[in-house]
Amino acid sequence: MDRSIQDSGPFVRTNVLGTQVLLDAARAAKLSRFVQVSTDEVYGSLGPTGAFTEQTPLAPNSPYAASKAAADHLVKSYVHTFGMPATITRCSNNYGPYQFPEKLIPLFISNLLRDERVPVYGDGLQVRDWIHVRDHCAAIETVWRHGKVGEVYNIGGHSERTNLDLTHRLLELLGKPTSLIRYVADRPGHDRRYAIDCSKIERELSWRPKVVFEQGLRETIDWYLSNQAWIDQVRSGEYLKYYERQYGKV
Ligand SMILES: NC(=O)c1ccc[n+]([C@@H]2O[C@H](COP(=O)([O-])OP(=O)(O)OC[C@H]3O[C@@H](n4cnc5c(N)ncnc54)[C@H](O)[C@@H]3O)[C@@H](O)[C@H]2O)c1
Repeated sequence: MDRSIQDSGPFVRTNVLGTQVLLDAARAAKLSRFVQVSTDEVYGSLGPTGAFTEQTPLAPNSPYAASKAAADHLVKSYVHTFGMPATITRCSNNYGPYQFPEKLIPLFISNLLRDERVPVYGDGLQVRDWIHVRDHCAAIETVWRHGKVGEVYNIGGHSERTNLDLTHRLLELLGKPTSLIRYVADRPGHDRRYAIDCSKIERELSWRPKVVFEQGLRETIDWYLSNQAWIDQVRSGEYLKYYERQYGKV
């Protein structure tokens, strides 16, 4: 999201043109299934109550969300025009092991482990629903195997938290002082609240999130504590050298 605000070009190229390329490749290969992994951010922002359903009109507010919404429309058009056997998933905020330290939870854990301050946007009262990456992956597999062609499935974790509550919990779990919170200027156009109604996938495909947020958060912290070398090589850009050795200049 932040990167799409700095420069939207790569997001349009990857998410819009990239999806079109994948759709055409899938058509040419006569694939039996195409799953578009989208995001709840395509629905825009909510007030203090209510939740996004699959019927909520798309109202993306950032270049990232707009590029994902455009891709979703392309997928639907291929279902309609070419009978493409595609489904779309729209998931809330992921967390878990191996997440790049540019995202909130791993960024905050890796900063706090170094006693560095953590940047909280605005008043920190933006609400997000958190889901463990394992639950998201299980939902994608369920939709891939059992989802109905042309349908959208929302995926959520039933774990709404304000960013500030989450920050305080991370500080507590890591035994760090609240003085490490640094309030920074709010992100432009920052959506206030996302909440997802995922009753359709629960009802129709019998998927449910299994990881309890508190437990998942503890496990994620333990993972980052045991994998500091991984964090260091990501933060230093060392992984880019690995990619360059494997695939050439990136
Ligand atoms: N992270 C979340 O909370 C979340 C929530 C809902 C949906 N999603 C969706 O899940 C997908 C993955 O998100 P993420 O958070 O893991 O993102 P990420 O940025 O961590 O990972 C994206 C991956 O795509 C690769 N990539 C980027 N451009 C590419 C290109 N042009 N060709 C080939 N590979 C390319 C990157 O190298 C990276 O490995 C995205 O489609 C995103 O919209 C993520």
